[in-house]
Amino acid sequence: MISTQNISLQYGKRVLFDEVNVKFTGGNCYGIIGANGAGKSTFLKILSGEISPNSGSVHIEPEKRMAVLKQNHFEYDEFQVLDTVMMGHDKLWANMKEKEALYSKPDFSEADGNRVSDLEAAFAEMDGWNAESDAAALLSGLGIVEADHYRIMGELSNQQKVRVLLAQALFGNPDILILDEPTNDLDLKTIEWLENYLLDFKNTV
Ligand SMILES: Nc1ncnc2c1ncn2[C@@H]1O[C@H](COP(=O)(O)OP(=O)(O)O)[C@@H](O)[C@H]1O
Ligand SMILES: [Mg+2]
Repeated sequence: MISTQNISLQYGKRVLFDEVNVKFTGGNCYGIIGANGAGKSTFLKILSGEISPNSGSVHIEPEKRMAVLKQNHFEYDEFQVLDTVMMGHDKLWANMKEKEALYSKPDFSEADGNRVSDLEAAFAEMDGWNAESDAAALLSGLGIVEADHYRIMGELSNQQKVRVLLAQALFGNPDILILDEPTNDLDLKTIEWLENYLLDFKNTV
């Protein structure tokens, strides 16, 4: 599913990784443990492509979709909560936005019509018709009440934002899910919800 080939990385004189080869196979849930500062977060950032190692490479099976729990709690501050969750699936989100733009064109051409029909087919393929209700169900499971689904992220408390970002990562059943300390800022009940969710999760965590 996802593997690394000879990953090496050092910051100044501190060697974090020296020729790391590891393979994460489909259907498993892995945990990375180590002391504070050992390089766990850095390793996850290498896997997700957020940072590049000094040498070596990461290989992901073609056509597999990766989702990452975002660490920056302010990144989506101007977006609606429900939209923020759906943005977790970039391809679906881009599809929805492109369709919206085409449908609101005053001079809708035949070419636009063809494009829209391709987009609609891809949308259905990605289970787009259930996107909003799936996103809402995730949010509710994580304790975000329905009245808050239509608010702007910037209006939520930090604890609520963490839950929305978690819903974003889980949204759309990613093939590979990367979570760095996902239980930070969650209460016991929500941690239990997440545990059960991951127990049922069929892909690679
Ligand atoms: N951009 C950076 N530049 C220099 N040092 C860094 C950078 N990012 C992380 N480090 C250092 O790399 C080490 C590993 O950090 P990190 O991956 O956050 O550890 P962990 O998540 O295991 O606690 C730490 O010593 C940290 O100070
Ligand atoms: Mg860390």
